[in-house]
Amino acid sequence: MSSDKPTTTDAGIPVESDEHSLTVGPDGPIVLHDAYLIEQMAQFNRERVPERQPHAKGGGAFGHFQVTGDVSAYTKADVFQPGRRTEMLARFSTVAGERGSPDTWRDPRGFALKFYTSQGNYDMVGNNTPVFFMRDPMKFQHFIRSQKRRADTNLRDHDMQWDFWTLSPESAHQVTWLMGDRGIPRTWRNMNGYSSHTYMWVNAQGERFWVKYHFKTDQGIEYLTQDEADRLAGADGDFHTRDLYRAIERGEHPSWTLYMQIMPFGDATGYRFNPFDLTKVWPHSDYPLIEVGRMTLDENPTDYHAQIEQAAFEPNNMVPGIGPSPDRMLLGRVFAYADAHRARIGANYRQLPVNHPKNAPVHSYSKDGAMRFYNASDPVYAPNSKGGPSADTARFGEPAGWPADGELTRTAASLHAEDDDYGQAGTLVREVMDDAARERLVSNIAGHLLDGVSEPVLQRAFEYWRNVDGGIGERVEAAVRGGR
Ligand code: NDP
Ligand code: HEM
Repeated sequence: MSSDKPTTTDAGIPVESDEHSLTVGPDGPIVLHDAYLIEQMAQFNRERVPERQPHAKGGGAFGHFQVTGDVSAYTKADVFQPGRRTEMLARFSTVAGERGSPDTWRDPRGFALKFYTSQGNYDMVGNNTPVFFMRDPMKFQHFIRSQKRRADTNLRDHDMQWDFWTLSPESAHQVTWLMGDRGIPRTWRNMNGYSSHTYMWVNAQGERFWVKYHFKTDQGIEYLTQDEADRLAGADGDFHTRDLYRAIERGEHPSWTLYMQIMPFGDATGYRFNPFDLTKVWPHSDYPLIEVGRMTLDENPTDYHAQIEQAAFEPNNMVPGIGPSPDRMLLGRVFAYADAHRARIGANYRQLPVNHPKNAPVHSYSKDGAMRFYNASDPVYAPNSKGGPSADTARFGEPAGWPADGELTRTAASLHAEDDDYGQAGTLVREVMDDAARERLVSNIAGHLLDGVSEPVLQRAFEYWRNVDGGIGERVEAAVRGGR
């Protein structure tokens, strides 16, 4: 058969057949020097990179971020300067399931963004929830294990999940959020994204601000009921992945408007909540939303493995004008992701096209390692007098930081006037949800508890919900004791 695109090996050498192995006569053994057959089998055996430890199941798309407001008084980051348009990548995900797990399980959704800015890649790795289950990175690994599979049965286990949650009362706000309507978005297009953490912004004059990001969906919030989600989990495990891909294919490009909450640097100490506690929001009435711009997703991936599976989002990618805050969880994450990428993808993951800073030059001193295909030439050390890169301390000298001092200690962060584990969860139940939403909340919690949670964890769960809201606690207990 003739072809205008003849198959080749990975070395570009034309192959004789797509179908037949090299054998000794038509009925004889396959020979070891069938290099093409061996290339096919060997490559196949190495096709998967390990899945992400959390957030394994997800999907994504490319797009751009267009600045529409003027926040130059708060940050000098190029990506947020008036009128700027920046290419970007987004990946949405569930947290606990494996790579093939259903999209519609109740779980927070990842909201990971990579902006290819002129100052290097900026990653905002958030969730669709404004808070999280804990406030110290020491507990994150334990939390994720409690959501995954047991050692003995290899099954996920609600008893284990509620055991951890009820022994970690700081989880109450996030668990309330999770058990509410927004715990299962209808599609990724119908959910908001939040930085959750507080970050720092620094303007051109060096003034510092504490900030939170809110990406609000322009498609409107929509959710799935537990029954709808359960049905879809069986009928179409890739419901959200399919929805995003098909919408973009149809030319319906989803968008989100970015708003910021901005706190003057000096407000943090006296604020009624610890502003660096990831289990708390800043009420909008304290710090109103300020519009920044719009992110639009308009381009599907063409190679999911190369562009989404090997995408490496890392909260440590912060550009000049953006920095971390004293939030311990964020400081833990600043280490964890690059470490995960080195283990999961390889030391040179940043050279892959999807992770490469396509709009900024790289002048680093990193060198060699597996799969590296480009090294800067000599000199290979700094300081040098041979024309190698040198840090521009006059322009970039001061890191985004804050005063810190004290004895080394292992204690909780300081409490502010209104800090407690249940207050904001109670506000969500009493002041944001209506009667119908509260009814669904009780039903979702009771359904979850009835699925394998036993004493004494069950008793602690009733107490947990009574602490969130007396009425909800009573109703959850009545629903569970009555078998719903
Ligand atoms: P507001 O009334 O100003 O804001 C309430 C927020 O709740 C809105 O952002 C709304 O999002 C969101 N919301 C509505 N329904 C639900 C739901 N079922 N599950 C989760 N969130 C929902 O009040 P405050 O700022 O004073 O916050 C009150 C409570 O609202 C907080 O304790 C927190 O639990 C929750 N919340 C607060 C946020 C914040 O950053 N301040 C962000 C999200 C939730 P939208 O407007 O997009 O529909
Ligand atoms: C993924 C660690 C908290 C959002 C991951 C991954 C790790 C990790 C190791 C896998 C990365 C990969 O293999 O590519 C941690 C640690 C945390 C933490 C140690 C706390 C100390 C959070 C919080 C958020 C978050 C609070 C949201 C605000 C995400 C998202 C992904 C992710 C969105 C998926 C990124 C992608 O799409 O590739 N996390 N995480 N994580 N995490 Fe976290």
